[in-house]
Amino acid sequence: MSMLEQGSPTTAPTTGCPVAHDFDPFAGMPHAFFEKARRETPVFYQEDIRGYVLTRYEDCRRLLGDRSGDVSANAALMSHLNVAPIPEAMRILQESEFDLAPSVVDEDGAEHKLHRGVSQPPFSPRRVTPLAGFVRRQVTERLDAVVTDGAADMVDAMIYEVPATVILHMMGVPDEEMGNLKGFRGPWAIFIWGNPDDDVQLETAKMMSGFGEWARGIARDRLENPGDDIISEAIANLRDKGALESSRAWLNSYTLNIVMAGHETTANTAAYGLVHLLQHRDQWQALVDDPGLIPNAAEEILRYSTGVPTWRQRAMTELEFSGVTIPAGSVVYAALNSANRDEQVFGPDAERLNVRRESAKRHLAFGTGAHTCMGNHLAKLEICIMLEELTRRLPHLEVVPDQEFEFSPNTSQRGPERVHVRWDPSRNPLEADRP
Ligand code: HEM
Repeated sequence: MSMLEQGSPTTAPTTGCPVAHDFDPFAGMPHAFFEKARRETPVFYQEDIRGYVLTRYEDCRRLLGDRSGDVSANAALMSHLNVAPIPEAMRILQESEFDLAPSVVDEDGAEHKLHRGVSQPPFSPRRVTPLAGFVRRQVTERLDAVVTDGAADMVDAMIYEVPATVILHMMGVPDEEMGNLKGFRGPWAIFIWGNPDDDVQLETAKMMSGFGEWARGIARDRLENPGDDIISEAIANLRDKGALESSRAWLNSYTLNIVMAGHETTANTAAYGLVHLLQHRDQWQALVDDPGLIPNAAEEILRYSTGVPTWRQRAMTELEFSGVTIPAGSVVYAALNSANRDEQVFGPDAERLNVRRESAKRHLAFGTGAHTCMGNHLAKLEICIMLEELTRRLPHLEVVPDQEFEFSPNTSQRGPERVHVRWDPSRNPLEADRP
């Protein structure tokens, strides 16, 4: 059955679980709400997303780490849409033969093990670390283009494009084709994790059709002309395991999903992080004065404001979290942005950004257990290099005050869409960077 047809409802609670009417699951930074929820209603039901929300660290860790069979990952992507697609959107997707088979992130058991095993090797620290030179060149080129301007939307100027270019490079996509991806930027996250109206559905369906076709073309090409890239490597590993034929639909899905997984997540986290560091000037200055703090600052940014604020799973049996019973079949959201500020784990100053925090690494931004984010080393490398170059070349950078940050209204892929910053180019520390 097509993933798009599965969309299974979660019924409203009958077990006395609180229902949160004052929580907007699609809004920017609901930290005041979460702080109270962790104390008073750590588990609640939310009608707009037809799911249960866990706010405490230990509950989120237990949900994501549970691979006993009691929890399934198959609600992560399109197998649980909040809004069933309208017929016109379905028609567009079906006519383009779009059928997103499960990807690594929403598979369970033996299939997950197989597909994670064949796709993970290029994301190991040993393979990712040598990409530092390529990443730094991407960052440098984009900063070169704006460094004398004195103002920029840093998301547009650098933060969005760097992770996109890196993942496409790893996929062996030639530079001239990279522009294609820009056309695929759109409201897809609202379609999968939001409350899309008809216009959003139609726009997304058209975008997804083109993107699906593009991904199938890449997968087909790598089958015929294998190269030195992550798709060819997954194909070779599948062939070695005798699983290539049975994994053809998975391969198309992987090719499409790895682009999504590999760039918006990192861009959203880096954009959030830049805003928060510049708004906490002493923390930014600490990185300017001592770049050796940047790796821990990247962990702290992931803790403080991850670009993947929630991740959803499905309860396969009746589950219990913080004394609340969740019926079998329910969709359950781990509110990672709440877990990451849980005072029980990060102490009484959990709400404070502290680039020297010793426990920063304990964040759940990358999930935990068998499904732990495969791209976590790459994401951290990219965030660190962006921060290294920004603090070195633009230490006097400021976030433009009083700007309103806009966020894509969805539960799981969120970051400020624009970050307007300014600086005085005559004060740029490197002579070559001055007008
Ligand atoms: C700051 C950036 C990122 C964040 C916050 C993030 C977050 C996450 C989360 C929360 C999960 C689900 C974990 C779970 O179910 O326990 C995940 C899985 C995954 N991520 Fe990331 N991610 C990021 C960057 C990346 C990048 C750069 C890539 C690849 C290029 C990537 C590829 C994946 C893959 C393939 C999975 C599925 C792993 C599995 O199910 O076994 N991610 N990520």
